[in-house]
Amino acid sequence: MKRFCLILIMILGFQTAATVNAQQTPQLGKSSVEELVAAMTLHEKATFLAGVFDYGKNPDGTTRKRVPGAAGSSAEIPRLGIPFAYYPDGPQGVRIQPTRKGTDKTFYCTAFPIATMMAGTWNPDLVSEVGAAMGNETLEYGNDILLAPAMNIHRNPLCGRNFEYYSEDPFLAGKTAAAAIRGIQSQGVGTSLKHFAVNNQETFRLKNDARVSDRALREIYLKGFEIAVKEGKPWTIMSSYNTINGTTASENRALLTDVLRNEWGFEGFVMTDWTSYPRNTAAQIKAGNDQLMPGLKVQVEQIEQAVAEGTLSMADVDLAVTRMLRVLVKSPSYKGYNFSNNPDLVAHAALARKAADEGVVLLKNAWNTLPLKDTGKKIALFGFGSYKIYQGGTGSGNVHTTGIVNIDTALREAGFELQEDLAATYDGVRIDFKIGEKLAKLRAADCDLAIFTIRRNAGEGADRREIKGDFYLTENEEASLKNVSEAFHAAGKKVIVLLNTGGVIETASWKQYADAIVLPWQPGVEAGHAVVDILTGRVNPSGKLTMTWPVAYKDIPSSKNFPSNFEAKKDGVRTPFDPEKRNEGFTEYEEGIWVGYRYFSTYGVPVSFPFGFGLSYTTFDYSKPVVKAGKKGSYTASVTVTNTGSVPGKEVVQLYIAAPKDNLEKPARELKGYAKTRELAPGESQTVTISFDTYGLASFDEAQNAWVTDAGEYTANFASSVEDIRQSASFKVKKPAVLKLKATLR
Ligand code: BGC
Repeated sequence: MKRFCLILIMILGFQTAATVNAQQTPQLGKSSVEELVAAMTLHEKATFLAGVFDYGKNPDGTTRKRVPGAAGSSAEIPRLGIPFAYYPDGPQGVRIQPTRKGTDKTFYCTAFPIATMMAGTWNPDLVSEVGAAMGNETLEYGNDILLAPAMNIHRNPLCGRNFEYYSEDPFLAGKTAAAAIRGIQSQGVGTSLKHFAVNNQETFRLKNDARVSDRALREIYLKGFEIAVKEGKPWTIMSSYNTINGTTASENRALLTDVLRNEWGFEGFVMTDWTSYPRNTAAQIKAGNDQLMPGLKVQVEQIEQAVAEGTLSMADVDLAVTRMLRVLVKSPSYKGYNFSNNPDLVAHAALARKAADEGVVLLKNAWNTLPLKDTGKKIALFGFGSYKIYQGGTGSGNVHTTGIVNIDTALREAGFELQEDLAATYDGVRIDFKIGEKLAKLRAADCDLAIFTIRRNAGEGADRREIKGDFYLTENEEASLKNVSEAFHAAGKKVIVLLNTGGVIETASWKQYADAIVLPWQPGVEAGHAVVDILTGRVNPSGKLTMTWPVAYKDIPSSKNFPSNFEAKKDGVRTPFDPEKRNEGFTEYEEGIWVGYRYFSTYGVPVSFPFGFGLSYTTFDYSKPVVKAGKKGSYTASVTVTNTGSVPGKEVVQLYIAAPKDNLEKPARELKGYAKTRELAPGESQTVTISFDTYGLASFDEAQNAWVTDAGEYTANFASSVEDIRQSASFKVKKPAVLKLKATLR
């Protein structure tokens, strides 16, 4: 009996200890973030700060990764009930592997129009709507943070990733990014605003040092991020690969802590871009870069070692872990969300079409060539892109989408007849061949009009080049277009050119060959439908350019300092990195703030198509505007827009403000607001009101390390493009405003 009692006491005692022990181990969902952090060992913390470098294998050999194709994830800590959280790319929609071993089920996602085209809608509500659909696919495929939006500045048209970015203008880029973030995050998943910062070229992107003035940093390269952070509140930010004025972005405390957090109030966590090694791991964490992606074992070891040696404090480690956990406790994986793997792809395709419809830009429309009045027409459809469109760019920004609608299919569906011999030839050769004079005449004789598609693609890891076949037309393309144009015009028939490209190409030398030029960019999964919607006038174009299309490449100020003819591979061998070489080891941002229209408009340099430009099938009249001063340096600017044409349409009212000349050099005018009207019926009017404030009007004065708004008379220009000012009104800023900053960027 005695023995029995003893055993009972021992069992009870053991159970109590075990229970107490279990109760003492904090658990996600039951314990606070502080309790979880306090319970973590240094090894767990270090593991958590590195992304997952090894998902481990299940006994059957399958990986434990729940979402194949997601670019990365955070680490799990089963002891504390902390699961993996998944991070898929990217800006055009969710990028995951579309098929999986052992199942017939597919996991395709919707390719929405590329980011540049989304910005070109100038419609933040639509950007948010698309963002919400992307967020929904992120959620329903079992993910947590979408690695988007991307918003580096189109400093130069040849940056290979411009299609993932919004604009040459930071205000437009920032507003668009904020709208995208709001939409994506409305679904309970996070975003990672990238690539912070000054990641404007792909050539040697891991090492290139962007040498840029503080003024250009503040006004051009950081301004958009500032707007997006303040207005969008992204869960995370992705620090960029490159170096800025000698300090690697992910090790840059001034950037990641002083500016991002202390000045702008960012409350999420920072993750590196996908190569955080070799970098100084301790310096990254001290700088305020919380997570190291995609994560390596050596980084875990380095964190442990740095703490042991005292070069990294436990307080810094804890801060980074805390920041990550505070965000991730909101994530679907941490909340145990029961995802469906079944988002509504049909509804999202319809939304992709609606978005593409608003982003197509009509660049030329001589003699009212468009819209095509009669769908019964017979079309000579030239260019391989007419049969196989690029729906998006390449690299991590590309989406595995299904059911891409090509232009030929959509034209047939709409009731057009295609010249079948020509269609069959393209189907047979699957490349662009030269259309000789004879063939052009033959087709001009048996068709009613010609449509000629020029397509271009680019993407991550390489910049575009100033060569034929990229920035310029190939010899074949040029000769073909000329022959088609001459033959069709001789027969009294029209030629329409479609530009299926993710970025700017040279147009000035050949645009006379076309009666109409339509720019559908890379429009996503519903590509062909969007093109035909515009061609037929089912949709009246309302997209506007978000960057300048120059006459010549050399007209662009940054062309002197951009690796536009860099040979990544010579005889199959990759050129070694040369730290001393211009545009490889470093890039001088000599042009300062003179990026895009700020340069062209101020210096009166002619362009092929200006920033903000895009034609409509109707016309709009702008009334006399009113600018009113409100409280605390706020202003409202109103103008009434009337549709004076004969078909319904939307107009983008752009507000460019000209500041008085004072100490600092200033652009002739800068975009400080915009508003898109609803679809106005012929004769219908809408008053749009745009708000701005003195802080938004400020220029950055390096001498004072301050944002300075000069007193004096300003002009508010209401415009349909930066070169098409319709109405102006002046207003006065009575007192100068100076906002001195604590943080300096070097
Ligand atoms: C790209 C990021 C991307 C990441 C994960 C990097 O190489 O620069 O934009 O999110 O890979 O795929």
